[in-house]
Amino acid sequence: MRQTQDFGLWMLAQQKRIELVLQDVFSNLNRAAPTLHQAMRYAVLEGGKRIRPLLVYASAQTVNCPVVIADAIAASLELIHVYSLVHDDLPCMDNDIMRRGKPTVWKAYGEATAMLVGDALQSLAFEVLADALLHEKSDHAAATIVALSRAAGIKGMCGGQQMDLDSVGKHLTMQSLEQMHQHKTGALLKASVSLPAIAAGASVATIAILNEYAQAVGLAFQITDDILDATVDSTSLGKTAGKDAAQNKATYVTLLGVEAAREKAEKLCSDAHQLLESLPDLAWPLGELADLIVKRNS
Ligand code: IPE
Ligand code: IPE
Ligand code: MG
Ligand code: MG
Ligand code: MG
Repeated sequence: MRQTQDFGLWMLAQQKRIELVLQDVFSNLNRAAPTLHQAMRYAVLEGGKRIRPLLVYASAQTVNCPVVIADAIAASLELIHVYSLVHDDLPCMDNDIMRRGKPTVWKAYGEATAMLVGDALQSLAFEVLADALLHEKSDHAAATIVALSRAAGIKGMCGGQQMDLDSVGKHLTMQSLEQMHQHKTGALLKASVSLPAIAAGASVATIAILNEYAQAVGLAFQITDDILDATVDSTSLGKTAGKDAAQNKATYVTLLGVEAAREKAEKLCSDAHQLLESLPDLAWPLGELADLIVKRNS
């Protein structure tokens, strides 16, 4: 059995890696629009748990995805994730003033710049990924870009965010709630696991197992986010707690209550572990990440 210490070291190394990769992305950007440049850096650098990059690196080591490509996938998913947060916090969406322990981008730079930060981060994500795939002369470039586009757009995160807006004040069935969560949060988490496999040309069977793992972990992630919103204070979360109830959002907590929501997240986590049994031993960080996603306290 692997020691938790091994995972701590593994995680630290990958977190350092993604910080350097992201810093590199920004150091290569021209500064023709300095306010936008500064606001983008403010949004992306120094903060966040970097869960998506961690999933990318864990999946990449499982399927032997070249490290330069893994770096680009990790950066592109974090950039799209941050764009989704910047827009999610806008007054016209969740109207939030705190993110990652500091004022939200719209609070610090104004709404118009926050909107542009999101837009520019999204195109930067595609540029970073396409550039790396081109440079490495990848045979799977188009499939990898298509998968990222799907995860970000109406079939993924954006679609889910609209479902979230439409759900306010409504009683959702378990099925619609799950569909919303799978879109708004699950899609980018799933892409974090599947993109390295697609880019590495992994077998259909391996991609299918990774997708099932990611489906379980993606849902468990948003259930845990809903539980944390209802149970943890703002300082520990680094974002405003209690927002879901205050804004009448449909969540796993409103539908099931905290205890049953927690049981559901734990069941999904154990399903994820079971799926990993059919993957090579190199996949071990994916198991640890499933635990982290469910047991985290921020
Ligand atoms: C928060 O995501 C928003 C959701 C998708 C629920 P994270 O909890 O991964 O936020 P950061 O990246 O650590 O700030
Ligand atoms: C946001 O979900 C999911 C995104 C696509 C950003 P939430 O609105 O619950 O995320 P937090 O709680 O503000 O981080
Ligand atoms: Mg929201
Ligand atoms: Mg929000
Ligand atoms: Mg939330």
